[in-house]
Amino acid sequence: MPKAAARVGVNGFGVIGKRVADAVSKQNDMKLVGVSDIAGDYRVKLGQMKGYQIYASVPEKLPDMKKAGVEVAGTLEELLRKIDVIVDCTPAGLGAKNKASYDKAGIKSIFQGGEKHELTGSSFVAQCNYEENLNRGATRVVSCNTTGICRTVGTLQNTIGVKKARVVLFRRGTDPWESHKAGLINTVVPEAHIPSHQGPDAQTIIPKLNITTMAARGPFNLGHLHFAMVQLKGEPEKEDVLKVLKSAPRLAPVRT
Ligand SMILES: NC(=O)c1ccc[n+]([C@@H]2O[C@H](COP(=O)([O-])OP(=O)(O)OC[C@H]3O[C@@H](n4cnc5c(N)ncnc54)[C@H](O)[C@@H]3O)[C@@H](O)[C@H]2O)c1
Repeated sequence: MPKAAARVGVNGFGVIGKRVADAVSKQNDMKLVGVSDIAGDYRVKLGQMKGYQIYASVPEKLPDMKKAGVEVAGTLEELLRKIDVIVDCTPAGLGAKNKASYDKAGIKSIFQGGEKHELTGSSFVAQCNYEENLNRGATRVVSCNTTGICRTVGTLQNTIGVKKARVVLFRRGTDPWESHKAGLINTVVPEAHIPSHQGPDAQTIIPKLNITTMAARGPFNLGHLHFAMVQLKGEPEKEDVLKVLKSAPRLAPVRT
């Protein structure tokens, strides 16, 4: 008998939440039951246009969302009663506050990189530690930067072996619609603290990885840029390294 599709909700329908909702709605073994937010702006309305059921995460915000023209199907509490798993995509730190209500509803929960590893006691990058996360009640998807490091340096660690990795990251300055708050022009803003959090964060996925990271924000917003200096174990040939990187999922060599 085919397994029933997992019923999924998304709380927080911003940059990450809309991507999660779109991805979930494309899976054969999942059903997106609804998305929840506190806003009634164009982003939530775009979700409604895609046919997503919209819920109000904070009941007091429900009248404002309706006034803004959103057809609200109910409150987050009601959504939690209809699902098996919630993907929390609220701003950093809010997930930690929300976890108790997910646990109380008896459902599984997935958090984003803005939350601490300790919230769930496990972190997740699909190609590195999928099995470790099977059947857990809660986990945390690390940030895109940490995911990138795990895909590249982690691939080398799991195949050839890494003696030492030193990674310098240039993070995009800001989201385009927030450029009035923290936009950067013709400059970089270095993070004073070394290691930046991405190195220790990668070790929550690959505990034995010898890695130090430095980070800065740069004047661009299309993506992040990483420079990885990696000392490998043994004496692999260039072709061996390229072969490993080319055959790894979700890595696309641009010029070799
Ligand atoms: N944007 C990125 O590039 C990025 C990258 C890696 C990790 N993350 C992490 O993903 C998480 C979400 O970040 P984001 O960039 O999508 O944020 P965002 O600001 O784009 O979206 C957050 C959404 O949550 C909603 N919200 C605010 N308060 C809420 C509440 N009380 N209940 C429910 N919804 C509420 C907002 O209206 C908004 O739609 C954070 O943990 C962040 O650190 C973001």
